[in-house]
Amino acid sequence: MLITGGHPLMGEITVSGGKNTAVAVIPAVLLCDEPCTIENLPDIDDVHALIEILQRLGAETEYVPGRYLTVDPRGANGYRVPFSLTKRLRASYYLLGALLGRGGRAEVAYPGGCDIGSRPIDQHLKGFSALGAQIEDRGGMVYANAERLLGGDVFFDMVTVGGTINVMLAAARAEGTTVIYNAAKEPHIVDLANFLNSMGARVKGAGTDVIRIRGMQHLHSCTYTVIPDQIETGTLMIAAAATRGDVTIHGCIPTHMEALTAKLLEMGVRVTENDDSIRVRPQGEQRAVNVKTQVYPGFPTDLQQPMTALLCMAHGTSTVCETIFEQRFKHLDELRRMGAHIKLVDRTVLIEGVRELYGAPVTVTDLRAGAALVVAGLMAKGVTEIYETSYIDRGYERIEEKLRSLGAEIRREKI
Ligand code: EPU
Repeated sequence: MLITGGHPLMGEITVSGGKNTAVAVIPAVLLCDEPCTIENLPDIDDVHALIEILQRLGAETEYVPGRYLTVDPRGANGYRVPFSLTKRLRASYYLLGALLGRGGRAEVAYPGGCDIGSRPIDQHLKGFSALGAQIEDRGGMVYANAERLLGGDVFFDMVTVGGTINVMLAAARAEGTTVIYNAAKEPHIVDLANFLNSMGARVKGAGTDVIRIRGMQHLHSCTYTVIPDQIETGTLMIAAAATRGDVTIHGCIPTHMEALTAKLLEMGVRVTENDDSIRVRPQGEQRAVNVKTQVYPGFPTDLQQPMTALLCMAHGTSTVCETIFEQRFKHLDELRRMGAHIKLVDRTVLIEGVRELYGAPVTVTDLRAGAALVVAGLMAKGVTEIYETSYIDRGYERIEEKLRSLGAEIRREKI
C-alpha cells in the first residue's frame, strides 16, 4: 500500500457493518433449525473465512457482498474444524460454542488471528464445563462433548468478550438457564443477544455485567442487520483528526464512540454528533492526552494503535497505557521508522509529539497495527510503503477506496 501523506481528508463516508459482530453472528446461525439471513456484513476476509467454515461443516450459504448472507444450517452435520481453517481468524473459536449448542459436540483447532499477546481461552472452556460439557485440550485441538448441555452459573475471572460470546452461544440451546457474571458489555455482545432473540432465544441483560440466557429447544429463521463497526468508525475519526480534515461519518452509532470522542475533544479536535453520524473537524493545535484502554465503555484496545499514531504529532507528551493485551505494541518500531518519538515502559507508551512524520517502508504485524500505519502514512511527509497489508483486509472493508473517496492519495500494488 502506497500512501502519499499530507492530504486532509474531506467529505462524507458511510461506515461498514461491524466485524466483531459479524464474526459472532455468522457462527450463531448454526444454532438455528432454519435458514437465516444476515444483512450489513462487512466484506472482509474474516467473513469469507467463516462462510467457508460453515460450508465445510455442511451448511448451505448464499453470499452477495454488500447485500446479504443467507445460511441454511440444516445440513450442517460436521463438528470438526481443523487448523487449516481456524488459522485464518481468531473468531473461529466461536465454532466451539455454536457447535456445542447445536449438537453437543465440537472439535475445533486453536484459533489463529492477530498475534497481540498469549490470548488464552481458559475462561471459554471453564464456561462450557459449567454447562456440563467435557473438555479435552490436546494437540492444538479443543474437544468438547456434552450429552446434555445444562444451563449453569458462569463466573469469569476477567472480562472477556470472546468468552462471553462463546458461552452465550452454547447456552442458547442448553436446557435451563445460564447466568454469566462479570460479562463483557461491548456493543457486539448486545448485538449478538439481539440476533439470538430474533431467532427466538431468551437472552436478558446483555450490555450489563450479568447476562441471563434461557436455553431453547428450537430457534427459528430470521433476517437480521448487524450494527455498524465501532472500530472502523473510530479509525476514520482518528484519520480525519490526523490529517486536519473535515469528515462526516454516516451510519454509525455515536454513543458507541463516547470514549474516543471525549479524547479527541480533550485534544482540541471538534467532534459533533447527530443521531447516526459524527463530524470531525480540526480546531487549532492538537494537544497531548493520556489514554488507558479499558473494557467497554472505556477506551477500546482496538483503537489504541491508531490513537498512538495520531498522538505522534500532538503537542506535548502523551501516554497510552494498554491494559487488555500485553503485546499490542508491534506498531511502535514502525512508527519510529517514520520519525515518531516513542518509548515503551511496561505497558505504557510515552509519546513526545513531533512536528513531522516522514514516509518510510513499514510492515504490518496485526490488523490494528495496520490501521495505525495507515493513519501515520496519511499524516506523514512523502510516501509511506506499507507491506503485509492482508492483515488490514481481515477487518477493514475496501479501506483504500474509502480513504481515496475522502481525498487520500493511497493505492495498492501487488509485488
Ligand atoms: N483472556 C484470558 N482467558 C480467556 C479469555 C481472555 O486470559 O479465556 C484475556 C486475554 O488474553 C486478554 C483479555 O482477557 O488479555 C481480554 O480478552 P477478550 O477475550 O476480551 O478478547 P478476545 O475475545 O480475544 C475480542 C476481539 C478483539 C478485541 C477484544 C477486546 C474478536 C474476534 N476479537 O478478542 O478484536 O480486541 O475482544 O475488545 O471479537 C480486533 O478486532 O483487532 C481484535 C483483536
